[in-house]
This record gives sequence, structure tokens and C-alpha cells, in this order.
Amino acid sequence: MIFRGTDTVAILLEWIMARMVLHPEIQSKAQAEIDAVVGNSRIVSQSDIPKLPYLQSIVKESLRMHPPGPLLSWARLAIHDVNIGDHFIPAGTTAMVNMWAITHDESIWSEPSEFKPERFMAEDVSILGSDLRLAPFGSGRRVCPGKAMALATVHLWLAQLLQRFKWVPSEGGVDLSECLKMSLEMKNPLVCKALPRC
Ligand code: HEM
Repeated sequence: MIFRGTDTVAILLEWIMARMVLHPEIQSKAQAEIDAVVGNSRIVSQSDIPKLPYLQSIVKESLRMHPPGPLLSWARLAIHDVNIGDHFIPAGTTAMVNMWAITHDESIWSEPSEFKPERFMAEDVSILGSDLRLAPFGSGRRVCPGKAMALATVHLWLAQLLQRFKWVPSEGGVDLSECLKMSLEMKNPLVCKALPRC
């Protein structure tokens, strides 16, 4: 609980902020949405999040391109022989689902290597496990039990970071290379500058 609940949330926010620095027009669009809904006389709060669909689309698109837990089911073992589609899984096998491959598959997603939150404004895709094109928290009986808390935390922190600051690259730029440890981390941690917004 402690490991899964901290590492994944921190890593997802780092990927999202890297994308905000790389795509200033997307960052500005999210800030314009926050300005229109919340203004700048008070800090954005949890109850504002449902009114920020573009911000939610940024989180979905980040989970699609950079799922912190890209391999599902690594803690599960087939206890008897089973067929899944065309695949035979013998008893004793750990068969992992490669969610990263699914979310980067061009037969499922148009322009999968492009960061486009707009795709989720056009189509409302659930990320909670009912749509297997995008299940960054897994699906079924062993789905992530912290997904609601994770999304509440990430949406609120992202909204507050964007409301208060404009995020720009530092001299070294942004490197999107990945490194798979327990979670899918940035190989070179994000370094950027925060400029206060008036
Ligand atoms: C963005 C944040 C998070 C992501 C992307 C994420 C993703 C995942 C994934 C992919 C799994 C495995 C599902 C499977 O094998 O099918 C999982 C399991 C789990 N997650 Fe999360 N998670 C996040 C946040 C959290 C938080 C905040 C908590 C707790 C407060 C948490 C607790 C757990 C636990 C306990 C499991 C193991 C469940 C089991 O094996 O039955 N996670 N998570």
C-alpha cells in the first residue's frame, strides 16, 4: 500500500509535468480552463475537478503514453491449464498483460506516439478497468484498489501546479527515455523551471 500509493503517483505526475513542459500550447489550454472555471482569487479545490474535462484528458493521455504500471498481473499465477483467445496458458505460468503495448498499438489508437489529450475530449474512454484499450490500473478482481485515491491526488496536484505556475524547460531540456523498474520511470528525472503566474 505504501509503496504502490506513493511511487506510482509521484512518477505519473513527473511524466505529466514533462509533457506540460514539452507542449506549452497544451499547458496553456489547461491553464485557460482552470482560469475560466476557478479564476485566480482562490486555489483550485477537489470539487472543481469534475468541471475541468481538459485537465482530466491530460491525465488520461499521460496514463496512455506513460503507464506507471505497464505490466499487469505480474503477481498472478495460472493454477490450471487455461485458453485465452488463441493462447494456451499452462498451469504454473505467470502470464503478464503488456498494457504499454496495447496503449501504443496503432491498430487501436490513431497516432499512438502523439501526445493528444483532445482524443479524450472527442471520446469518453473509461480508465477504471471497463475498457481494455486503456486499463492503467488493471481490471477485474485484482484491479488497483487505490485508483480513485490516485486520480483524486493527481488531478488536484496537477491543477494546483498549473494554476500557480507556468512550467518551462531548463537548459538540459526534457528527455522522455523510459526506465522500467518496479514502475515505469523517467530514465533522466525531469528538471524544469516554474515561473509564477500573475
Ligand atoms: C497513478 C497511480 C497508480 C497506478 C497507475 C496504479 C496501477 C496499478 C496497477 C497496474 C496494479 C496491478 C493491477 C493488475 O495486476 O491487474 C496496481 C495494484 C495495486 N495498487 Fe495501484 N496504482 C496507482 C496508485 C495506487 C495507490 C494510490 C494505492 C494505494 C493507496 C495503490 C495500491 C495498489 C495495491 C495494494 C495493488 C495490489 C492489488 C492486488 O494485487 O490485489 N495503487 N496498481
